[in-house]
Amino acid sequence: MFRQASKHLLVFLAFSSITLGRKWRDSGEAWTIPELAFQPGKKMVLSCAEPCIQGISDPVSAANMAVTVNNRLASDIANNTERFGGFASLAMHNATVAALELKRAVKELGFLGALINDYQQSGPDGQTLLYYDQPEYDVFWEMVTDLDVPVYFHPRNNIPAIVTFEYAHAPFLIGPAQEFAVTLSTHILGLCTNGVFDRFPNLNIIIGHLGERISSDLLRIDTQLLKQIPQGIPMKKNVTTYFHTNIFETTSGNFATDLLKFHIGQIGLDRIMYSIDYPFVNIPDGTLWVNSLDTVLNERDLISLKRGCAIEVLRLND
Ligand SMILES: *[C@@H]1O[C@H](CO)[C@@H](O)[C@H](O)[C@H]1NC(C)=O
Ligand SMILES: *[C@@H]1O[C@H](CO)[C@@H](O)[C@H](O)[C@H]1NC(C)=O
Ligand SMILES: *[C@@H]1O[C@H](CO)[C@@H](O)[C@H](O)[C@H]1NC(C)=O
Repeated sequence: MFRQASKHLLVFLAFSSITLGRKWRDSGEAWTIPELAFQPGKKMVLSCAEPCIQGISDPVSAANMAVTVNNRLASDIANNTERFGGFASLAMHNATVAALELKRAVKELGFLGALINDYQQSGPDGQTLLYYDQPEYDVFWEMVTDLDVPVYFHPRNNIPAIVTFEYAHAPFLIGPAQEFAVTLSTHILGLCTNGVFDRFPNLNIIIGHLGERISSDLLRIDTQLLKQIPQGIPMKKNVTTYFHTNIFETTSGNFATDLLKFHIGQIGLDRIMYSIDYPFVNIPDGTLWVNSLDTVLNERDLISLKRGCAIEVLRLND
């Protein structure tokens, strides 16, 4: 179907406009799909906005809510799957439970992958943070690679303890300007340095905001990590390499033309997808920027950015 679509078709990676998962949970507020997404020739991938399930500490409530959110999203897009796709929400307390819900979402609901909002809160006080770079998550990554779907890592608001310790002195840095990229990039570099991509060489991870700053700093990261080899770092390759084999990035909300050009040099255009980050970023801002890129990218490269890479990663032609 996509092969016949107009070459101007865009694949958005967006987030459902349900505002925060928490708000929706508490109020039962309906989500709405943005009007612009209904324009001809566009496909938008919807998911539950942060922190969604990652903010639910109780494993049973989290797992149940993931099923509810996934069923709800599936039914909302069921009559319009040409235009909309879904990323599964997952409770990440137990890797087996997460793997089985992902399988259900992909096989039964037709979802294109999962979107996880950084670490999973858990524990009676919500202060235990679970990161998926640990060996107990191998069963999850195995399912992800068996299903051959990508997992998008999106930032989340930190728990209050982290905000107090690290940002009380400079509260204006809380949120997307600094805090989000710092927390999420550490999680992603955890996947790299703990050897997840060595154990799962076919794993595809998507990260937003033009790489959460990692791909702007690859030389320093990798030269410094070389010093960890004598300390037994499990990582077999280097972070630069994983950005060529396992990690894709999206432009979401980072509409910086010079940085895009730099990253094309660092990791290649075939690893970068246009996305917006709606509802945190306005759709017209993204449209204005992407339409301005015809002065810096040739037509073939612009099509790759706007749709080609996403069609590959999301297997939209299969
Ligand atoms: C799908 O259903 C929604 C909600 O009922 C409706 O607004 C929309 O027009 C429908 N889309 C199509 C393509 O039928
Ligand atoms: C995780 O879930 C599986 C499947 O329900 C269960 O068999 C296993 O005991 C759980 N693991 C833990 C650590 O709770
Ligand atoms: C990363 O590994 C690749 C492949 O071995 C190598 O060519 C490259 O120089 C390395 N990059 C850094 C910054 O160490």
